[in-house]
Amino acid sequence: MSVRRTAPAAVQPKEFAFTAENLAWAKTIIARFPEGRQASAVIQLMWRAQEQHHGWLPEAAIRYIADMLGMEHIRAMEVATFYTMFLLQPVGKKAHIQVCGTTPCRLRGADDLFHVCKNRIAHEPFEVSADGNFSWEEVECLGACVNAPMALIWKDTYEDLTPESLEKIIDGFAAGKPPKPGPQNGRQFSAPEGGPTTLTDAAIYASKPQNSGAALTDNDAKKPSVAASNRESPEPKAPLSKASADKKPKPN
Ligand code: FES
Repeated sequence: MSVRRTAPAAVQPKEFAFTAENLAWAKTIIARFPEGRQASAVIQLMWRAQEQHHGWLPEAAIRYIADMLGMEHIRAMEVATFYTMFLLQPVGKKAHIQVCGTTPCRLRGADDLFHVCKNRIAHEPFEVSADGNFSWEEVECLGACVNAPMALIWKDTYEDLTPESLEKIIDGFAAGKPPKPGPQNGRQFSAPEGGPTTLTDAAIYASKPQNSGAALTDNDAKKPSVAASNRESPEPKAPLSKASADKKPKPN
């Protein structure tokens, strides 16, 4: 896990303010929350501030947004330092690559991706490449483990990565033509590579009389069926007579 520190004072701007356009947007966001709950807008506002400020979030922006929302500065700082979506140091102009280093991605080759980042970009996390265009860091699980190993670049995930496909992605960003996000090995979303690999024997579906030999679809499941309702419902019991119901202990 990378350490979440703010950038050194030497690179922190003294002040931050939203552009007129972003300020107008921020007001509409804040107005969506009930009176007294304006702090709930903190993540949206900090993310917009990060986009405005060259892809990273300076301390001045954190304070500015805390003041705008009536929050203690430390509360906004806690949010900014908790979520890895907030980049607290200057990053590459074209891409900051967040490579997942949690167990499933490690088991599927994340180490090789870190080597690519070190060779192509810079040796240390958050060290900006010599041309100023790229930076990288290690982050914890980003929720796409089924497509491990993966990386997040700005708001998009790039999945099923290999060293070669990560090289191509970096080439794409360098050329100003970011590749299409998602799996980079041709599979559809998180479907099994090469098609289904389990429950493929049609006979297991044909054994049920109401089925035609294929797996149920959502529409099939909505059809009236004699199966579950008749077979699995408990035997109906006669209602209690009033006399026996009166004998039941009353709840306290
Ligand atoms: S472990 Fe890498 S996305 Fe979950």
